[in-house]
Amino acid sequence: MSSYIIKGGNKLTGTVKISGSKNAALPIIAACILNKGITTLYNVPNIQDTQMMYEIIKILGGKVQKKKNKIIIDTSTIEKYEIPDILMHKMRSSVIIVGAIIGKYKTATFTYPGGCDIGARPIDLHLKAFEKLGITITQNYGTITCNAEKITGSKIDLDFPSVGATENAILASVLAEGKTIITNAAREPEIIDLQNFLNKMGAKIKGAGTDEIEIEGTKKLKEISYNIMPDRIETGTFLCLAAITGGKIELEKTNPNHLTPVISKLEEAGNKIEIKKETIKIEAPKKLKAIDIKTMPYPGFPTDMQSIMASTFSIAKGTTIIVENIFENRYKYVQELNKMGAKITVEGKSAIIRGTRKLYGANVKATDLRGGAALVLAAMAAKGTTIIENIEYILRGYEELDEKIRQLGGNIEITKLI
Ligand code: UD1
Repeated sequence: MSSYIIKGGNKLTGTVKISGSKNAALPIIAACILNKGITTLYNVPNIQDTQMMYEIIKILGGKVQKKKNKIIIDTSTIEKYEIPDILMHKMRSSVIIVGAIIGKYKTATFTYPGGCDIGARPIDLHLKAFEKLGITITQNYGTITCNAEKITGSKIDLDFPSVGATENAILASVLAEGKTIITNAAREPEIIDLQNFLNKMGAKIKGAGTDEIEIEGTKKLKEISYNIMPDRIETGTFLCLAAITGGKIELEKTNPNHLTPVISKLEEAGNKIEIKKETIKIEAPKKLKAIDIKTMPYPGFPTDMQSIMASTFSIAKGTTIIVENIFENRYKYVQELNKMGAKITVEGKSAIIRGTRKLYGANVKATDLRGGAALVLAAMAAKGTTIIENIEYILRGYEELDEKIRQLGGNIEITKLI
């Protein structure tokens, strides 16, 4: 297990380049399976979660070549349709591969997915969508097998705009016979990126970004190259790193349009923010003002920023209230933040954050990806040294976080504990 050792107190200043989006890259890597051949992807973040997707592709029989952020995926040699339990357990997003395997090969076997422990995270909506497309699902002691003689376009009405279920429904229906319409679809920008990627490949999809997506089944796809969109949650994390340390940062190669609610909350708190086409400049005030946040499906405030905002506003003037509406167990990091002097109480879906003047270095443990990032933020602003254990969670989703923070003047090192 590795740890971060962080000496807090430095204002982060300078320029940082935002990496490609984790949540766009994962379904797009899966989507490569739909075309038997070579796909070249650019701007893919070099993180544990993408590594894990390559492992799955290789286990299925495919090949993956990596040159920094350029990835060449060859799916022409795929000959297995079963995802090993160990990989399903390591990463929830591995379930997204299922839609692509079943869409292409009409059979897939897998087990219930794992990933960050932030709630029950069932996959019932994914399975219901598959059934609507004529796929038969059998379950045996936790192993799920999907089979279809043919996949037929259909109307899929999601009970909740689940990001993963929307993506899986798209992946499973690209090569289907006839038209599929997904209603109450998730509207996240990563779904637009998946649509753009698949349409470049030859798919016929429209409506991503709205709550109704239409997929006209097609027979033939082609080899393409594609550039993954910027990571909006990494962008939000660096905006908050500036806000919590009283710093001034310019974020490059991002898409400000994807962060409207985050930017507006940070402005409300007193940060000065300047937006250009692909850059955001933020200058923190002397003291942040408390705000209220409710997480919602896109275009609402993103749940992935919830812990990061809680950490940032733990040193604001006044009381911040956060309501988490997407996941039911996303406050695990709170007890770790409180060890650093934060004054946060959780009542059901709400976190009440009473602003404190100072945070203090402590020994803490990352509990999940974004909860872990929240601890990094607190540590950067804290007096003294913080040791964050279990940073494997954080490495799942942030590319070179420590190096980027050092470039901005932060004092952070990685150490391997034996
Ligand atoms: C994706 C993101 C994750 C983000 C989340 C919500 C990826 C790889 N991950 O996760 O970072 O936090 O969207 O924006 O893109 N649900 C069900 N049944 C299902 C599926 C989901 O009840 O079959 C529930 C979940 O338990 C959760 C809610 O729906 O309460 C939202 O989940 P979903 O949108 O599916 O999130 P993910 O796709 O897992």
